[in-house]
Amino acid sequence: MLTITPSGEGLGARVENLDLSQPLAQEHYKTIEAWLGKYGVLCFTKQVLTALQLKQFSEKFGTLEINVANVHQEPGLPEVMILSNKLVDGKPIGLGDAGQDWHTDMSYSKMIAFTNVLHGIEIPQRDGKPLGNTEFSNMRAAYLALPDPMKTRLQGMTVLHDFNKFWENMRKQPGSKRAPLTEAQRLAKPPVSHPIFLTHPITGDPVLYANPGYSIKINELPQEESSLILSFLFEHQLQPQFRYRHRWTQGDVLMWDNMGTIHNAIADYLPTEARLIKRCQVMADRYFPEAA
Ligand code: OGA
Ligand code: MN
Repeated sequence: MLTITPSGEGLGARVENLDLSQPLAQEHYKTIEAWLGKYGVLCFTKQVLTALQLKQFSEKFGTLEINVANVHQEPGLPEVMILSNKLVDGKPIGLGDAGQDWHTDMSYSKMIAFTNVLHGIEIPQRDGKPLGNTEFSNMRAAYLALPDPMKTRLQGMTVLHDFNKFWENMRKQPGSKRAPLTEAQRLAKPPVSHPIFLTHPITGDPVLYANPGYSIKINELPQEESSLILSFLFEHQLQPQFRYRHRWTQGDVLMWDNMGTIHNAIADYLPTEARLIKRCQVMADRYFPEAA
């Protein structure tokens, strides 16, 4: 029997007794979608999947993104991205610094992301504890906890999101191998705007759709006020009562809702402590067909 156990923290739940390597009954995809809306982060335990099976499960939820850089992909399966710090013959086999700051995936894109599906294949450990945890924060709870005058003031406003903000912040990290984006890359990813309060397409609830990784301005406000309010929101949205920290176990499939949550990858492991995760990125095209 399919079971779900809420984490008891600000979001997140564990789903047991489901084998994602096989096609599921249609109603199970619907249940998973509803649970994603409700809990924000789902962990399916003890999954043994090929990269192809990970792709086949993920694509039930929408169109899969193919990373433009065309690197760090599973051979023959460009929809499956590899996150890893491992080297083979001295060369990285995956993206080594993914997600290392609070963000939501693809908020910088006209078509935003719905869900990420990550399969934990090698999880670093030290002293019996997993390293490389992934943290989440609940943006429905963050919206609800905003002071009423701020909800009223910001209602209907939009936020500008810029891919380059995250990129430049990563470049400042010690040891970063990222080069500045070229003019052509910047032109290919111009900043885009989205509502500051997004109506969540699964739950119908308003969520705060802004994140420190990509959000650069509230369009309708003068620069100074925009900066002050964004700083307030970035602090507000990370309060401990909104949070969940996922401590990985090998075999976990972690699936999260990018519309109603933000996340952060904790880089607390050494180059010698191997981490290997395979990942699909599902776009929100089923909910926002007009943005396609
Ligand atoms: C991502 C991401 C976090 C992690 O896949 O979008 O941010 O812990 N990953 O690997
Ligand atoms: Mn991410």
